[in-house]
Amino acid sequence: MLKTSAFPCHALKIPIGKAKGCRQNLKCRASMVEELNITLPDDWHLHLRDGDLLQAVAPHSSSHFGRAIVMPNLKPPITTTAAAVAYKDSIMKALPAGSNFSPLMTIYLTDKTSPEEIKLARRSEVVYGVKLYPAGATTNSQDGVTDLFGKCLTVLEEMVEQNMPLLVHGEVTDPKIDIFDREKVFIETILQPLINRLPKLKIVMEHITTKDAVNFVESCSEGLVAATVTPQHLLLNRNAIFQGGLRPHNYCLPVLKRETHRQAIVSAVTGGSKRFFLGTDSAPHEKRSKESSCGCAGIYNAPVALSAYTKVFEEAGALDKLEAFTSFNGPDFYGLPRNTSRVKLTKTPWKVPESFSFSFGEIVPMFAGETLDWQPSLI
Ligand code: DOR
Ligand code: ZN
Repeated sequence: MLKTSAFPCHALKIPIGKAKGCRQNLKCRASMVEELNITLPDDWHLHLRDGDLLQAVAPHSSSHFGRAIVMPNLKPPITTTAAAVAYKDSIMKALPAGSNFSPLMTIYLTDKTSPEEIKLARRSEVVYGVKLYPAGATTNSQDGVTDLFGKCLTVLEEMVEQNMPLLVHGEVTDPKIDIFDREKVFIETILQPLINRLPKLKIVMEHITTKDAVNFVESCSEGLVAATVTPQHLLLNRNAIFQGGLRPHNYCLPVLKRETHRQAIVSAVTGGSKRFFLGTDSAPHEKRSKESSCGCAGIYNAPVALSAYTKVFEEAGALDKLEAFTSFNGPDFYGLPRNTSRVKLTKTPWKVPESFSFSFGEIVPMFAGETLDWQPSLI
């Protein structure tokens, strides 16, 4: 539901300029909208960490999202259903009192994962996906898969049987491949051959960053292959890493790409396709580990994510498509019910904190110190 300051046509989705009294004959100025009331969103790709960091970040996600697919790349990684159940317990304990947030757990695929583990995962009703990290692709991926077709085929076949989605970090790890091409090469050399081999496997291509990924996802069967999209890959291009100096807080993996890729992702998402849904990839690292001679990859966007996604849809004149992206396409793909509670987004400028301080140190969020327009609040 959209509330506007002046012209009812914008709220009622009457074709541009048709409502009585609307003088905007050519362009629907999305900036007229002042309040949105949407179904509570879910985050289909989230890093909650453990220990102190988990305590610190859990309230930010649980205050804006109903559920989240929780990534398993802890140290050591969550490779079994038993570990996922224990991890879920510690997340529940870290949530603020009265929170209804529900963590949907994942397990980390290794060369040694057994088909039996997939059966256990399915029966658990705790695990909702299996995460593929190519070994060495990103943070804590050293135990990931070294040879998907050579080592994991029987497990993947069992995932088809169990209708268990494979959540893919889609980058090759060959250091000879240019870092900006690693997603495209992954699609060509791993993902397309995987789909040819197992056409019924449910796949989420996580945090897509390129036009190649958009085209690929659109070429696959709807309902079988989908993609999550982060706020940073919708709002920033690779210049943001080098704006007036090196900007470690804008460094994530897959790395930000050039502007043409960003635009392709924005068009795909704001065009209303069911194949794309919200996944923040919010990945907190302590400030000292980001601002270092070898800084960690990951952008902490949980506190700003909903405002940031709303900005993208507003700028594209597509606020009427926001709710499907944030709240419908994800649960529909995973075969889960949509949330029933709602969230209000009010057009009230607010300043993003420079950092969040905890006993162990600081975390710098995306858009630190900048002003954003949309403020979410649970209804
Ligand atoms: O930037 C990233 N950070 N990309 C990932 O794939 C992992 C994540 C993390 O865990 O820090
Ligand atoms: Zn991630």
